[in-house]
Amino acid sequence: MNIFKLQAAKILSTNYPDLSQNLILDSFELPKNSEFGDMALPCFKFAKALRKSPIQIADDFISLFHGNELYESITNIKGYLNFKFSKTIYIKSVLDNYTNENIFAELSLFGKNKTMVIDYSHPNVAKNMGIHNLRSTIIGQSLYNIFESLGYKAIGVNHLGDWGTQFGKLMWALEKWSSIEEVEEKGILFLNENYVRFHKEAEKNPSMEDEARKWFKKLEDNDLDAVKWWKLFIKISMESYKKIYKRLDVSFDFVTGESFYIQFLAETIAKLETANLTEISEGALVVKFDESDNMPPCLLKKSDGATLYGTRDVAAVMYRLKVFNPDVILYITDIAQQLHFNQVFNIIEKYNPSSKGKLEHIIFGRLSFPDGQMSTRKGNIIPLNEVLDKARDKVLEILDEREVEVPDKYETAEKIGIGAVIFNDLSRGRIKNIEFDWDQILSFEGETGPHIQYSYVRMHNILERVKCSDTSEIDFSALTDEYSYELIKTLEQFSKKVIQAHDDREPSVIAHYLIELAKNFNRFYRNNRIIDAPKDVQDSRIHLVKILISVYGKCMNLLGLPIVEKM
Ligand code: ARG
Repeated sequence: MNIFKLQAAKILSTNYPDLSQNLILDSFELPKNSEFGDMALPCFKFAKALRKSPIQIADDFISLFHGNELYESITNIKGYLNFKFSKTIYIKSVLDNYTNENIFAELSLFGKNKTMVIDYSHPNVAKNMGIHNLRSTIIGQSLYNIFESLGYKAIGVNHLGDWGTQFGKLMWALEKWSSIEEVEEKGILFLNENYVRFHKEAEKNPSMEDEARKWFKKLEDNDLDAVKWWKLFIKISMESYKKIYKRLDVSFDFVTGESFYIQFLAETIAKLETANLTEISEGALVVKFDESDNMPPCLLKKSDGATLYGTRDVAAVMYRLKVFNPDVILYITDIAQQLHFNQVFNIIEKYNPSSKGKLEHIIFGRLSFPDGQMSTRKGNIIPLNEVLDKARDKVLEILDEREVEVPDKYETAEKIGIGAVIFNDLSRGRIKNIEFDWDQILSFEGETGPHIQYSYVRMHNILERVKCSDTSEIDFSALTDEYSYELIKTLEQFSKKVIQAHDDREPSVIAHYLIELAKNFNRFYRNNRIIDAPKDVQDSRIHLVKILISVYGKCMNLLGLPIVEKM
């Protein structure tokens, strides 16, 4: 807790027993104008309790602070009490909080003993990962990191789309047109191609659909040939996904696709039936919703006995609630699945009212390329690996143009390219639609990934060049100039920002915070010499940069932005 708030609240509540310390603590806000001071107390909030005008209250309050060295000045601006902190005390209190990683430990108490399950990325097996999978993957991973840094037990689940009649189609097609060996050799794109070919030919020859259904039935019945194909699809798909996950630094605690929940379907349906939530409609088993819910019925079992995507999701929620006992489960998908999740959540909440409020559908907007910037493959998918390759190759060109000498150019370009793609996504509010613009996202200036990484490099370079003596005595008064002070004030926001990102399920809060830090750092560095500053001033500034780089690096980690040390 900020000592300036605490001290003021203590003084006021001791002198005015009608005002509780917490009421005062909750009332502090930032001044309307930063020139007014560092914190403000709107006194109208106490007018009722004290039966006086805010201006009078503020005047009375001021008199209690005479001679208090914590505050440089306190002024009454129209009933707002504006406090200016003693800069040196403020700086010391902020920076000391960061030394020894205090602040990170403190932050991890926020979610202590809480569990969060997050269902993200979840591509559909046998399909190449496309840019439509990108947002779920990186927003999901970032939220995972944010919750984890807050002390939650985070459980990341990749709910692969690995079940359904589409696999019957592929089996039929490959049995007819190919072989296990060829599929193994050619990989996931070959699966895509055969799937597309199946659809084209089935238009002319509808009996193929029946054949495909037979193959899927075989899979459901555990037929050896069908299972062999299906396992191969998963293996090939995962090999291809893993390469992308590695590049994006994404990992899961469980890769349990839809098929994992087949074993629980009968039990799940029985539970809903016993709870009288189901009915038969035209031969199918459905759950109907209240009129006020304004949703069509959710199909659990078709008249031929087949279960559906939704059935498996209901089973999955039940499983997760039971096995992980989570405080919250987040589902990261685009808006197109809103009805689906509303239905699933509604069913579960009816069945188990204590799950109310625990299930959240976290939606995001569409990501698209302007025409001609990326070629689409058959099936209209822009393959994600091609986007990442292109980002890397374009960065390589930029590095060459700028004649940048770095030890491992390819590796560096990869990190900058990935960072650019991730930052472009996470710096926009997740609900917004994003149009990809290569020139803009790869620019080294502006609010871009490369710029964020570049500022890190500058901090890193300073620390490399100045081997600072590890003095335990830092002169905090050497950091009272306007630029250092602004930077320190921004640093102080760290915990608040992480918590806000958590509350809003919004990584962009961290992205904007990084932009703010970078801006303030660059201003600080432009206006304050470090390399040739007098020793004691240099030590203080280096102390600040060391703390900054740890907070800054932490924020980059939360977003999954690769750290580069030279560029
Ligand atoms: N595989 C699905 C798709 O690509 C997304 C799965 C989302 N998660 C879930 N539990 N339904 O559309």
